[in-house]
Amino acid sequence: MNDDTGALTETYEQVQHDGSANPKPLLAPVPTSPKIPDYLQETYWWAYLHPKTLKFFEREWVVNLILWGNMKRLTRAVLDDLELTQGSRVLQVACVYGKFSNRLAQHLDKTGSRLDIVDVAPIQIENAREKLAGNGNVEFHHQDSTAMSFPPGSFDETIVFFLLHEQPEEARRKTIAEAVRVTRPGGRIVFVDYHGPKKSNPMRYVMKPILAWLEPFAMDLWREELPAFFPAEVTAEQIESEFCFGGLYQKVTVQL
Ligand SMILES: C[S@@+](CC[C@H](N)C(=O)[O-])C[C@H]1O[C@@H](n2cnc3c(N)ncnc32)[C@H](O)[C@@H]1O
Repeated sequence: MNDDTGALTETYEQVQHDGSANPKPLLAPVPTSPKIPDYLQETYWWAYLHPKTLKFFEREWVVNLILWGNMKRLTRAVLDDLELTQGSRVLQVACVYGKFSNRLAQHLDKTGSRLDIVDVAPIQIENAREKLAGNGNVEFHHQDSTAMSFPPGSFDETIVFFLLHEQPEEARRKTIAEAVRVTRPGGRIVFVDYHGPKKSNPMRYVMKPILAWLEPFAMDLWREELPAFFPAEVTAEQIESEFCFGGLYQKVTVQL
């Protein structure tokens, strides 16, 4: 694992430009191994941090069941949206159970493109590394989505698949701001997540108590459109939103 433990989040911006070829860091390097955020430990330990339940959830059919049969469709929606050129760099913010990352890595391989995957939980990074062992174009990073250590504009495309509904508002806003920061001008960000379904969609009445019980922050995405959490620098013209399954899921693309 490239756990980026030695990375200094501010290194790339807090340098002294004294005209020499090698700018001097103003701060002494401090190892920054990200801590498991409270919301993950308290609300989602059973889904992502426990080795036994990880093994249970790490199955395509389980993820597909949780998404009411929409896993392939939502994965396809992401792959079809990517505008790859030879050697593109793509960032996946947070691991995803099932075959999402395998399909993504294979898709990227066709253009000699690379996939970088970030996750804050070492157990998830280890699991993804095993799952993706056959793919030579993937690198793993032990980082927090709210404070990534990549320099600005590092990626052509950034994907955030079902992470934002799990984060409290402050972390969600920081994750989105970080996705914007690490994606290059002219690049794109693809968010896929829950959304408040139409009143005529019976799923609304099935999912509301389930999410309110197990995934309390998800209701934010029912109440507000996702762009409400975007930084001010992202304008309405840059955003394209699509909805499916009666509005229960959304794909929001930001063109930078
Ligand atoms: C992408 S989300 C949910 C994806 C989807 N429900 C699935 O099928 O797996 C789950 C992942 O997000 C990670 N995660 C949560 N908060 C994070 C953060 N602040 N930084 C990086 N990863 C985070 C968790 O460790 C977990 O691996």
